[in-house]
Amino acid sequence: MKTKPIGPIPVGYSAIDGELAIGGRKASDLAAEAGQTPLFVYSRTHLDARMEQLRAALPKRIGVNYAIKANPHRGVIEHMEPLVDGFDIASSGELAMTQAAGIDPARVSFAGPGKRDDELEAAIAAGVTLNCESEGEAKRSLSIGQRIGKAPRIAVRVNPSFELRGSGMKMGGGAKQFGVDADKVPALAKDVIAEGAQWRGLHIFTGSQALNAEAIIEAQSNVLNLAAELSREIGAPLPKLNMGGGFGVPYFPGDEPVDLTAIGAALHERVADLPPGLAHTELCLELGRYLVGEAGVYLCRVIDRKVSHGTTYLITDGGLHHQLAASGNFGTVVRRNYPVAIASRFDAEADDVVNVVGCLCTPLDRLADAALLPRADVGDLIAVFCAGAYGATASPSAFLGHGPAIEVLT
Ligand SMILES: Cc1ncc(COP(=O)(O)O)c(C=O)c1O
Repeated sequence: MKTKPIGPIPVGYSAIDGELAIGGRKASDLAAEAGQTPLFVYSRTHLDARMEQLRAALPKRIGVNYAIKANPHRGVIEHMEPLVDGFDIASSGELAMTQAAGIDPARVSFAGPGKRDDELEAAIAAGVTLNCESEGEAKRSLSIGQRIGKAPRIAVRVNPSFELRGSGMKMGGGAKQFGVDADKVPALAKDVIAEGAQWRGLHIFTGSQALNAEAIIEAQSNVLNLAAELSREIGAPLPKLNMGGGFGVPYFPGDEPVDLTAIGAALHERVADLPPGLAHTELCLELGRYLVGEAGVYLCRVIDRKVSHGTTYLITDGGLHHQLAASGNFGTVVRRNYPVAIASRFDAEADDVVNVVGCLCTPLDRLADAALLPRADVGDLIAVFCAGAYGATASPSAFLGHGPAIEVLT
């Protein structure tokens, strides 16, 4: 059978006694401790290493926010608390998660279209910054603030006329449900300030899952130019500018990691020469998958091995109900293989071509197609990498009643 390549295994994973080790622990020990498979394992070592790389590359002036939508596991949020400058949330459910993890609401900002009144009230009462997505939302926030006697902290999310080139998901450029069209921002910002809100500045998020540093540098430069221009038109300095993020993770064969050094160098240059409107502005990036994606591994177990018309199937107890993205059904047009491995035989020679599938009765439930891997049998553990972001909470875990996977931090 012709093989299909698999995605690149992230750096920092090696073998102990021939087995995949995650954060220095053998996969079989982690599974035994969890008491069940499938499980997601998140590695503190990887989380720390990524933050260290970022801090080393970025100017001190640029803060890093963690968008918890990527992975809102309590242990992950708590681990990130001392490492990042702020947290971005997308719902009152995520607000509650930051509160449960003891995050100071002054470090939290809330973006997302369609915020309900009860969500706005919870955020205003807590003192979280609202990244307002429309004039209507700003109006509702101001009147809720008046009713509860608390001035809302308001930033305006801008829908810029440019996008992050090459990003997997574009969040700017043309008609969008996100943010306020750039030409309408000055009037709204002036209103919000006049109505007595605590003015928090602008949020400009242009896209997600971009691997091309040049495109990211271009978008960041456009964001800074637009923010300076808007600040001039508003007639007030920006206390804060959330510059968005969009740094991607290499999931597929041929994907290359983002060139962080190039992005850092370009930011150093820009930050040394900021226009007057941004001279005292607090700047931050908003990153999700880049911080946590490669720190997570999904482990599932081979339940059956069978051959159909000459094709070998490893049927696992996992699947798309936990790892929708790896199955190719979450925002991809052509299915390609995520990085996968036989965790229990991590350094063995790859000499078997197999299809790794899940336990759901749908042909969509595929974890790897025609992958060249070491021979695996019933009981072996399979690892799917890049599972630290948009895995557990971005997959339909209720589908077919198998239930969610366990999540552990190691
Ligand atoms: C406003 C906002 N912030 C953050 C993110 C996180 O993106 P990523 O996990 O790709 O960094 C997204 C993703 O769509 C987003 O829309």
